[in-house]
Amino acid sequence: MIIDFRSDTVTKPSSGMKEAMMMANVGDDVFGEDPSINELESMAASMFHMEAALFCPSGTMTNQIAIKCHTQPGDEVICDENSHIYQYEGGGIAFNSGSSVKLLNGNRGRITAEQLSAVIQPDDVHRAHTSLVSLENTSNRGGGSCYDYAEIKKIAAFCKEKKLALHLDGARLWNAMIAKDETPKQYGEVFDSISICLSKSLGCPVGSLLLGKKDFIKKARRVRKVFGGGMRQAGFMAAAGIYALKNNINRLSEDHLHAKQIADSISRKNFTRLVLPVETNIIIFELIDGMIASDLVAKLKEFSILAYAISTNRIRLVTHLDIKKEMTEKTIETINQL
Ligand SMILES: Cc1ncc(COP(=O)(O)O)c(C=O)c1O
Repeated sequence: MIIDFRSDTVTKPSSGMKEAMMMANVGDDVFGEDPSINELESMAASMFHMEAALFCPSGTMTNQIAIKCHTQPGDEVICDENSHIYQYEGGGIAFNSGSSVKLLNGNRGRITAEQLSAVIQPDDVHRAHTSLVSLENTSNRGGGSCYDYAEIKKIAAFCKEKKLALHLDGARLWNAMIAKDETPKQYGEVFDSISICLSKSLGCPVGSLLLGKKDFIKKARRVRKVFGGGMRQAGFMAAAGIYALKNNINRLSEDHLHAKQIADSISRKNFTRLVLPVETNIIIFELIDGMIASDLVAKLKEFSILAYAISTNRIRLVTHLDIKKEMTEKTIETINQL
């Protein structure tokens, strides 16, 4: 039995999901004729009380399309220094949108309205035009940390006052909403655009959705085509998304419990210097001096436990729907014996 904590993207479709995929009604989505994609898009938009949605192959694509739609070349995008859009999207902000980035040093991936107000560029011909703020919830490199909704509201009010667009990379927004007992509607009310992933904690093989106003999504649909993301009979994938939205959200609290239990055992080991607070399904821990993350990852692999060294002294484990209770117990037993 391999216990794979490298990411929540490693899940395989369940038999119920596969059956939903096989039964899907499909058509050519570039012509707007795929009934399953149309159903998924309107289902997601209505969950968030937003006007429209666009189905895309990946979270990178939904984020990059949003940035492209909100900016002009030469503009500036503000985000936390650990943001996925900056760290892990191949320099896409510059490549796709010709925009520069102002990085903020937030608290485990989360920035504040106060930090924003200190860095927004004045209206001066010498300066880049700040046009977009992007938040990430939960924050991946922040160890699955969640924003306080009150802070998001302050940020949204600031952006409105300064006429800045506000985007959310909500690849794991479902985890944040379950952990903080929040609703999609709350998020739909304050963001201009939201990217949500179906292929992470919800267990789909592929797919993300971009949400926003009708005009914004119309523009985004055009950009998706330019980026080569116009899909044809992708309703097979959308059917997996519909299945996930109906069946795989409420169970996320189980993943959060498993993460807390494993983090607890890690925190008791004498090789552990620090475990970032576990709020959702991500555990990031740091090793004491002299210990190398890749060595411990290799050791765990000997016990069929897969983890990911995110730096020379930090390791990440992510729980997900293919990590069952027995696997969590076996992992804790193994850690206790190391
Ligand atoms: C926070 C965050 N945003 C965006 C993405 C990109 O998603 P994808 O791998 O579907 O491009 C990821 C992927 O792990 C992520 O963790």
